[in-house]
Amino acid sequence: MHIEQGTSRIAFIGEQTTIKMASPLPLIRVMRGSLASLMMRRKIGTILEKLKASEESLGSLLRGMRGVRVNRREAEFSSALRGIVVPTRCHCGGVVAVQPTIRDLPASLGFQDQWAVIADVVGSGDRCKGTTMLKQMQANHTVENPDNFGVMDGAILFRDFGDPGVIRLLLEYGPAIRKALAGLLNGL
Ligand SMILES: Nc1ncnc2c1ncn2[C@@H]1O[C@H](COP(=O)(O)OP(=O)(O)OP(=O)(O)O)[C@@H](O)[C@H]1O
Ligand SMILES: [Mg+2]
Repeated sequence: MHIEQGTSRIAFIGEQTTIKMASPLPLIRVMRGSLASLMMRRKIGTILEKLKASEESLGSLLRGMRGVRVNRREAEFSSALRGIVVPTRCHCGGVVAVQPTIRDLPASLGFQDQWAVIADVVGSGDRCKGTTMLKQMQANHTVENPDNFGVMDGAILFRDFGDPGVIRLLLEYGPAIRKALAGLLNGL
């Protein structure tokens, strides 16, 4: 097993199964601090002040909460987007998402080839227009990074797809994107 640290989640990648946990340490740290304050009968205002005082904790807490939302969305849309995304289940209210482990994209693929074909689909052949549209949809961050894709059963699938912009992209262009990604693999 190995561990990958994403922006909002920690991925525990096993031979068969990957478990993605919303970054838990900041959550635990902040909750522990708040609990300690409550036990000392401090006022809520003091607790909030303490939370606000540490920008770093607050930033980490927000990332942890984002991880929970991303996990939930991946599970929610996993069936509707079957064949384009890796099947995902979610547990403990979104703290944990479970996916099959899928292979990285083949090294013989050009860097960001996946981004190029998706931009072509979205821009109807005009890559420049497609790039602008991906940015407007706020899906470019995910699409640009080859680590967010993998191969399973001879198909390129999204393995990080819980951002709202990516869900919108896949609901609108899913079948065309699946076809374009299949073409990429067949061309190797
Ligand atoms: N199903 C999977 N199989 C194999 N590796 C995976 C799988 N899911 C994620 N990974 C690996 O773990 C890393 C982190 O996972 P993921 O990208 O889903 O987390 P994130 O916090 O949403 O990341 P980001 O920084 O892109 O927002 C990925 O870049 C990838 O290398
Ligand atoms: Mg990612």
